[in-house]
Amino acid sequence: MGTVVLGTGSCLPKRILTNKELESIVDTSDEWIRSRTGIGARRIGGKGEQAYQLAAKAARRALDDAGVSVDEIDLIVLATISSHMIMPSCACLVQNEIGAKNAFAYDVNAACSGFLYGLDLADKYIQADHSKKILVIGVETLSAKLNWKDRNTCILFGDGAGAVVAGYSESDHGLMGAHFGSDGALGDLLCMHAPQSLNPDLEIEGYPGSHVLMGGREVFKHAVRAMEDSVRSLLDAQGVSMESVDLVIPHQANIRILNKLAERLNIPQEKLFINVSKYGNTSAASIPIALDEANKEGLISPGDTVLFCAFGGGFTWGAVLTKW
Ligand code: ACO
Repeated sequence: MGTVVLGTGSCLPKRILTNKELESIVDTSDEWIRSRTGIGARRIGGKGEQAYQLAAKAARRALDDAGVSVDEIDLIVLATISSHMIMPSCACLVQNEIGAKNAFAYDVNAACSGFLYGLDLADKYIQADHSKKILVIGVETLSAKLNWKDRNTCILFGDGAGAVVAGYSESDHGLMGAHFGSDGALGDLLCMHAPQSLNPDLEIEGYPGSHVLMGGREVFKHAVRAMEDSVRSLLDAQGVSMESVDLVIPHQANIRILNKLAERLNIPQEKLFINVSKYGNTSAASIPIALDEANKEGLISPGDTVLFCAFGGGFTWGAVLTKW
């Protein structure tokens, strides 16, 4: 008995930016990007594809898939770090766009771990009141937050949105447990400043601009270690072995992080869902997009044990285990 995913949806921008095209933007090569990251292309938002617009489409698709009307939604929890507005929240923009007039709405900022943090919040509301139906959304338009002259970062990220409708089930299916962590002391290794202060006294000295900054090698190390530890803690607490997990849907950071994680945790390749080659790293959107694809491709059957794990700026990380 617990919180179940009633439906999934996703929405990707139309424009595909290939590695080949990136070669004319920064000093890089298709071969370098593929071999270091496993990324072949990413989607880039265009007109009519702001974060809230992609998120609204993903949400409508999740509602259709769930057979739930928008009026039934009590809460919209939306994970993002790249909405075009700070206020209103992206969740409120989505609420307005889809007409979810009975819902309250707010954003979660946990970078690439945001969707899992949001799913955990939804679980807590639903456990407290079984009648609640909640939209959990992950969306990013990080193309608007990248320094397109910095080859260390601009090759990695892509835009997109994914959503689930969460509700309660009397069956023995649903969220089994979660494990989360954060380490603010390492925040500088992956960060993005807000716009510079309009108050001279609060101006940031040496302001670098409001784009993504990253220490790639350090992030790599911490990402693998934190996701491994989180998954181990969660599986131990639940008394579940890796062998009995049917599908792992990790944050799609890059292929080398995922391969390293799979090696450390003994996850066979056929149990690891990977789509990073098509979309790059879509941060908070990567897990719900991957979940929607796995769901629509029929890769998840009722009763399957599905494991999610993520790592992102903050640092933030976590893992969620569910019986589908
Ligand atoms: N094209 C060509 N050369 C490049 C590029 C590029 N796009 N980017 C960097 N290089 C160069 C560097 O300048 C460096 O050259 P130098 O030796 O002359 O100085 C060389 O390639 C090697 O650079 P490294 O940083 O050592 O390369 P590394 O093997 O560490 O790979 C990468 C870089 C892919 C960023 C890796 O560190 C990584 O995957 N880190 C994790 C980053 C990540 O996934 N961040 C996403 C957010 S967090 C998350 O989602 C989990």
